[in-house]
Amino acid sequence: MQLKENVSLKPYNTFGVEARAKYFANFTNVQELEELLHSNPGLQPFILGGGSNILFTQDYNGLVLKNEISGISELHEDNEYVYIKAGAGESWHQFVLHCISRNWAGIENLSLIPGNVGASPMQNIGAYGVEIENVFWDLEALHIKERSVVTFTKNDCDFGYRESVFKRKYKGQFVILNATFRLRKKPHYNISYGAIEQQLALMKVKELSLKAVSDAVIAIRSSKLPDPVITGNAGSFFKNPSVSKTRFEELEKHFPGIVGYNNADGTKKLAAGWLIENSGPKNGTSGWKGYRVGDAGCHEKQALVLVNYGSATGQEILQLSEAIQQSVNEKFGVMLEREVNIF
Ligand code: EPU
Repeated sequence: MQLKENVSLKPYNTFGVEARAKYFANFTNVQELEELLHSNPGLQPFILGGGSNILFTQDYNGLVLKNEISGISELHEDNEYVYIKAGAGESWHQFVLHCISRNWAGIENLSLIPGNVGASPMQNIGAYGVEIENVFWDLEALHIKERSVVTFTKNDCDFGYRESVFKRKYKGQFVILNATFRLRKKPHYNISYGAIEQQLALMKVKELSLKAVSDAVIAIRSSKLPDPVITGNAGSFFKNPSVSKTRFEELEKHFPGIVGYNNADGTKKLAAGWLIENSGPKNGTSGWKGYRVGDAGCHEKQALVLVNYGSATGQEILQLSEAIQQSVNEKFGVMLEREVNIF
C-alpha cells in the first residue's frame, strides 16, 4: 500500500490509454484503505477496480486507489442456495470459473466479462439474459467521508439496466469492499438468449452443464468482442436505448430491419449496435462499423464497442463517440447514452 507518485494508469485501464495519477496506491483490506484515506486527507480519492468501464481523458490530480481486496468464501447454505462472498478486487471471470467448478449456478452466462467483482453491482453487469441483480444478495461498502462500513441489500442498490445507486445517488461516495451472491445448488439454465443454443449445438453438447453454458458464452463473446489484452476496449461503450412502442413502430416504417426487443414495461429496447452500424461518418453512406480514425475505432464485428488500436488518446476515443452519438441522433432521432464512465 505504498504511496507512489506520478504513476501511469495505462496498465490499469482496459482501453489502454495513457493518463497519469498524481498519487497511486493499492489496498488489500479495509484497514489499509482507511489508513490511506486518513493519511491523505487533502487528496480526492478515485477508486479503481479492473479499469474495464472507464475512459481516462486527462490526468488525475488526486489519489488513485486500486482495490485489491481478495478472497472467496462460502457463508452459508440452505436447501436451494449457497451464499458466496467475494472480495471486490477478485477478477469477475475467475470468480465465475470458481463457482462453476463447485457447481454453484447462476452466473455462468456472465462468463468472460472483464473487470472485478466490486464493479459488478456498480453497473449491474449483464449478458445473455442474466443480470447481476438476479443473483445478488448484499454488499459491504465503506463510506469515504464518514469512514463507516454500510451493508447494502439488493433493494438498497436500486438496480436497473446497467444502473445502481452507486452510479447515481451515491456516485463517488462509497468504496465497495465485497459482495455476496446467492447461487443455486441445482442449475436453472438460461440458454434461450441470443446464440447460446446454436453455439451449444455447434459444440455438440449432449448434456447441459454449467461448464458447457460457460464455454458457449466464452466462444460467442470471443468471436465478436475484442480481447482487451490485444485491442484496448471497455465492452459496450453505449447502452441500448429504450423507446415507446409507438416510436418503435414509426422507426420501423422508416428503417425496416431496425432491431428492438420487448421490455417488461411495454417499451422497446433498441439494439444500439444496429443504429451505429446503420449510420456513419458520411451521413450514413458507409456505416461506423469498422471505421477507424488514427488509432481510435469502432469495432469491425460489434459496432457498440469502441477500440484503441494502440496509441489512441482518451480524448480521441471520446471525440469518436460523440461523432457517433451525433450521427445516430441525426438519422434516427435517438440519443445514445454512454455506458462507460468518462474521467
Ligand atoms: N447489432 C448490429 N450490429 C452490430 C452489433 C449488434 O446490427 O454491430 C444488432 C444485431 O441485430 C444483434 C443485436 O444488435 O443481434 C444484439 O447484439 P448483441 O447480441 O451483440 O448484444 P448487444 O445488445 O449489442 C448487449 C450488452 C453486452 C452483452 C450482449 C449479450 C449492452 C450495452 N450490451 O450487447 O454487454 O454482452 O448484449 O447479452 O447492453 C457490455 O456491457 O460491455 C457488454 C458487452
